[in-house]
Amino acid sequence: MVNLCHLQSHSHLLFCFTFTGLAQKLLAYQLLTMREKIVFFLNHERVEIHGAEAFMPLSTWLRERKAMTGTKVVCSEGDCGACTVILGWLNREKKLEYRIIDSCIQFLFQLDCCHVITVEGLTRNGNLHPAQQAMVECFGSQCGYCTPGFVMALAHLQEEAQGITAAAIREKLTGNLCRCTGYEAIVKAGLTLNEKPATRFLAGFDRKAMEAEFGLLSQQSVKISGAGEQLFFKPQNLGEALKLRQAIPQLKIIAGGTDLGVQHNKGRSPLVQAMFIAHLHEIGDIKEVNGGLEIGAVTNWTDVLRVAEKKLPALHEILSIFAAAQIRNAATIGGNIINASPIADSLPCLFVLGARLVLASTAGEREVDINHFYTGYKKFDMQRDELLTKIILPLPAQDSLFRLYKVSKRRYLDISTATLGINLRVSGGKISEAHAAAGGVAATVLRLRSAEKFLTGQNFSAEVLTEAGRIAAAEIQPLSDVRGSADYRKSLIRNLFSKFYSETTTMERVG
Ligand SMILES: Cc1cc2nc3c(=O)[nH]c(=O)nc-3n(C[C@H](O)[C@H](O)[C@H](O)COP(=O)(O)OP(=O)(O)OC[C@H]3O[C@@H](n4cnc5c(N)ncnc54)[C@H](O)[C@@H]3O)c2cc1C
Ligand code: FES
Ligand code: FES
Repeated sequence: MVNLCHLQSHSHLLFCFTFTGLAQKLLAYQLLTMREKIVFFLNHERVEIHGAEAFMPLSTWLRERKAMTGTKVVCSEGDCGACTVILGWLNREKKLEYRIIDSCIQFLFQLDCCHVITVEGLTRNGNLHPAQQAMVECFGSQCGYCTPGFVMALAHLQEEAQGITAAAIREKLTGNLCRCTGYEAIVKAGLTLNEKPATRFLAGFDRKAMEAEFGLLSQQSVKISGAGEQLFFKPQNLGEALKLRQAIPQLKIIAGGTDLGVQHNKGRSPLVQAMFIAHLHEIGDIKEVNGGLEIGAVTNWTDVLRVAEKKLPALHEILSIFAAAQIRNAATIGGNIINASPIADSLPCLFVLGARLVLASTAGEREVDINHFYTGYKKFDMQRDELLTKIILPLPAQDSLFRLYKVSKRRYLDISTATLGINLRVSGGKISEAHAAAGGVAATVLRLRSAEKFLTGQNFSAEVLTEAGRIAAAEIQPLSDVRGSADYRKSLIRNLFSKFYSETTTMERVG
């Protein structure tokens, strides 16, 4: 039994423990020996952060504490990209991997052992970066508020791509909004990067030195005590994370922080006591096992998307319109599942493929079929001392017809009005198994049991799918809200069954 009391002393939290058991003694020792600061690089500057500052969003800290106002803030919720920065973090091989993220929903405590590059870090010897120069030459800016965000995304695109296409630019800039200029000029600026000398701006940073230091620092756990109740942990490995979870269950688990960051910024649920887990490589990998995928819970959507392109094209299609690059680079599959939104885009796929969730605690692991995981709106079968560590995802069978749908008001960077997943096994023209699940139509994603029952054993035909759509529409009771009325949602689900038939009869079967 752990008896843990927090005492306030000289603005530091001290812990006193009454422990039985070796594991708890070890944890007590670890807590006392944890590093009490965050270390990262901001452009060329090495930064150490202690105390309450670690709980600030990166964009706020840049602007208010560093007077680096090149990074703009408009929405504070990951929707506009004005705050885009490039973030390098250590991969499994202890090399820095760079991606764009929204700095308004990244907290400083997430940045330990990272390299942050802001728009101020792009210039070299007073010369503009080609992406900045291109925006000037192509008139890609008017009020200029969005411009640093676009520049960061374009600079990253130039760094990673050879032969930049208009399609690649549009895809890269999905998370950047501009109210004034019109996107044509910005896309044109992106295309002119093909004619400019490829400035590998990353080459201007001493990555080897950063990697060497981060490699050592990443072997330490971090504990930060901020103002008042503020408390943060970055465990060094999964075992330690589970011990902390058991000892201090009120710690909010933070992975990508894309859901929690918005909640914090909007004042709905300030992040006061948190444990960061997105750096835990033990639960951040995708493996192929027994013909299916095992996806670590902290795998981000960009990495899932890459694997899905070959292994699960239907999911790849959905993930291509999931938020935007800045969000997908940070957001994790585990966060999407535990956030438990009935319109979470990954869920219909996981439901109809029969994904199993692996939940771990210091007592061991257990598996739960995702179809039995959710018990009500934002309610699910996870104990206070558990973490979601892995998603076991069977791939569709050879004779499966498998499609996923997301309907939203805007194609990109929008919340779903309704989602649907259908997975039918068809042999000899007959449906032998039917799995269908819809989101945005109830308090949780819903298995469409009546439609499934009707479909099983039927011939695969337009009439049968139309009737299944009618049955599915009758078994859901959606709400009306700003994204659509209840009737509209019913029509959507009904019509998507017909769409499924027409699409699957004109495409190859999923292998
Ligand atoms: C601009 C924007 C656009 C978005 N677009 C989409 C979209 O198109 N489709 C969509 O489905 N979602 C979307 N989201 C929501 C969000 O990005 C996803 O839900 C994302 O997958 C959450 O992952 P995360 O790692 O950021 O979660 P976090 O914010 O870190 O955590 C979310 C919740 O999960 C818990 N948690 C996280 N990991 C674990 C774990 N391993 N074990 C136990 N608990 C855990 C946290 O405590 C928290 O309660 C969007 C968000 C933003 C800000
Ligand atoms: S300020 Fe809009 S995404 Fe960060
Ligand atoms: S130039 Fe004004 S918002 Fe883009």
